[in-house]
Amino acid sequence: MDQASGLRGGESGVSGGRRLHLPRVISITSGKGGVGKTNVSANMAYIMATRFGLRVMVLDADLGLGNMDVLFNIRAAHTLQDVLMGKMRLHEILVPGPGGILILPAASGVEEMTSLSPEQNLRLLEEFENLSMGLDVLLIDTGAGISENVLTFNLASRETLVVVTPEPTSRTDAFALMKVLFRRQPEKPFLFLANMVRDRQEGVGLFDLVSKVADSYLPGLSLSFAGHLPADPSLTQAVRAQRAIAEMLPGAPFSKAMEQIVRTLLSRPPREGGEGGVGLWMKRLMTAGEPSSKSAPG
Ligand SMILES: Nc1ncnc2c1ncn2[C@@H]1O[C@H](COP(=O)(O)OP(=O)(O)O)[C@@H](O)[C@H]1O
Ligand SMILES: [Mg+2]
Repeated sequence: MDQASGLRGGESGVSGGRRLHLPRVISITSGKGGVGKTNVSANMAYIMATRFGLRVMVLDADLGLGNMDVLFNIRAAHTLQDVLMGKMRLHEILVPGPGGILILPAASGVEEMTSLSPEQNLRLLEEFENLSMGLDVLLIDTGAGISENVLTFNLASRETLVVVTPEPTSRTDAFALMKVLFRRQPEKPFLFLANMVRDRQEGVGLFDLVSKVADSYLPGLSLSFAGHLPADPSLTQAVRAQRAIAEMLPGAPFSKAMEQIVRTLLSRPPREGGEGGVGLWMKRLMTAGEPSSKSAPG
């Protein structure tokens, strides 16, 4: 646990005389769908919580079909939409997941999040800030592709983890996504996660391929290797059982590899750079869609 607090990315900041604990905000994204984002988010959250003692919340921000709720077989009675309509408080819609993680069912409601009235913005910001004080990590399971919604969540997060598989379309779509994000936020580094590979070597090979293209066409883009996850037939078993594989089969290759990825990730906190955390994340979220932030600074 001490190891965890040393590894933990949360910084502390002072706001209005109160000491705030700021969670590390990581978006998990991809160019192409079906590459493993939801399984990565869920198992990463579970491992961070159970093996590293971190308080983790997963924001299910994929507008597509049910994701985290199906994976974990949980039924969300309310969603972010109820919060935006003023019917519920943010903490009231949270659903507990395995290992004490919290799931924020936002699949319906996220689209509206970027086009709220000033009053709605303020209320949501306050709610997120209150919620974030108890968190170490906020993981955002985004949709795939370059729709405005996906871009917004990625632009607002402090770190972006791009999931890529050996399928050529996964690679090219990941590149297309990074290209758009890089244009808008050239200073933000990307983390590359190779999924469904045979071994580390294939993962590194995949990373090298994408890096080379990025070096030639997007000079200045920072991309680092976050690790690899093997193609693991037992993952299907866990998905069918609607459980996180890291909980159901902790010794499975996928679970072991995920633990290593989390260890690496936590040992490399994001660069210090002033503000972080959910409050800032919300503020970025609200402005990410505005034209002023679309032109790359510098
Ligand atoms: N490393 C892996 N080994 C085997 N199957 C995988 C692996 N990663 C993902 N899958 C399978 O791919 C499918 C899509 O995964 P999911 O996490 O839902 O992707 P996404 O959220 O990107 O759409 C799942 O049914 C899962 O079983
Ligand atoms: Mg998904």
